[in-house]
Amino acid sequence: MTILSSISFIGGGNMATAMVKGLAGLQPRPRLTIAEPDPAKHGFLQSLGAVTTSDNLAAVAASELIVLAIKPQMAAAVVSALAPGWSSKKVLVTILAGTTSAKLAAFLPPGARVIRAMPNTPLAIGQGMVGLCKGAHATDADLALAEALFTPCGKVLRVADEERMDAITAISGSGPAYVFQFAEALLAGAQALGFSADEAALLVGQTLSGSAAYLMTQGVAQAATLRQQVTSPGGTTAAALQVLNAGDYVGLMTRAVAAAETRGRELGRG
Ligand SMILES: NC(=O)c1ccc[n+]([C@@H]2O[C@H](COP(=O)([O-])OP(=O)(O)OC[C@H]3O[C@@H](n4cnc5c(N)ncnc54)[C@H](OP(=O)(O)O)[C@@H]3O)[C@@H](O)[C@H]2O)c1
Repeated sequence: MTILSSISFIGGGNMATAMVKGLAGLQPRPRLTIAEPDPAKHGFLQSLGAVTTSDNLAAVAASELIVLAIKPQMAAAVVSALAPGWSSKKVLVTILAGTTSAKLAAFLPPGARVIRAMPNTPLAIGQGMVGLCKGAHATDADLALAEALFTPCGKVLRVADEERMDAITAISGSGPAYVFQFAEALLAGAQALGFSADEAALLVGQTLSGSAAYLMTQGVAQAATLRQQVTSPGGTTAAALQVLNAGDYVGLMTRAVAAAETRGRELGRG
C-alpha cells in the first residue's frame, strides 16, 4: 500500500478542507500542511490537524506531494511562484477544473511531474468521484500516490488519455448538478400536486436517497430492470415515464453531457 507521509496543500478552501477531513482518518496519519492567504481560516484548518502557513513556498518545502487547490484563474500567478522551490522529487496533484497538466507544468522547471484530478462536491462528505490521469512526466508511482490521496474521500477512476478528463468532468464532475436539478424539478412537481415545501422536501429527499441506496445494493447496471419493476403497463409510473420519454429524456441527457464535454475542451484550450 502507498504510504502518504507528508502532504501540502496550496489553497485551503472547500475542496482542500474536504480532502483534509478524509485524510484525517488515515493510519499512520500524514503530516498535513496548508498554505492559505487568509489568516482567518487558519484556526479552522489547524483544528482539522493541519499546520498552516501563508507562505506557499514553505508549504512546497514541507512535502514532496503538493496538492493545488486554488481557483483556476489564479493558476499562472501561483504556480509560477512555486517554481523556485520545486525539485525533481516533487509531485503536483492538481484539482483545477479545465486546466491541463501541460499548462501547469509549463510554469514549473522542465520535467515537472503533474497528476491531474477531477473531483466532485460529494467529496466533502467522503462520497466523491475522482477522475485521475498522469501528466507527461508523472510516473505510475505518482498516480498510485494520488489515488491513495483521494481514496479516503471517494472512489477513483484512472484514465490514460488526459483528453478523457473532459468526459469525466461531463459525467461525474458536473453530475451532482444534474442530480440537484432533478431534485429541484421533482420538488416543483410535488408542490404543484399540493404538498407544502417541507412535505415535498421529505418526499423527494427520501425518494432520492432511498433509490440511490437501493440502486447501489442491486448494482447500477440493474437500473433498467429496477425501473421496469416499478412500471406496470398502463400504470401510474408508466404515465409519468411516457411524458418524460416524449421529451426524449435519454437523448436530452446524452446531449447535455456532450455539451459539457465540448465546453470542457474549449475551456482547456483557452
Ligand atoms: N468545488 C467543486 O465542486 C470542484 C470540483 C472539481 C474541481 N474543483 C476545483 O477545485 C479548486 C478549488 O475549489 P474550491 O471550491 O475549494 O475553491 P475555494 O473554496 O475558493 O478555495 C480556494 C482557496 O485558495 C485560496 N487562495 C487564493 N489565492 C491563493 C494563493 N495565492 N495561494 C494559496 N491559496 C490561495 C483561497 O483563499 P481566499 O478565499 O482567501 O481567496 C481559498 O481558500 C478549483 O480550481 C476548482 O476548479 C472544484
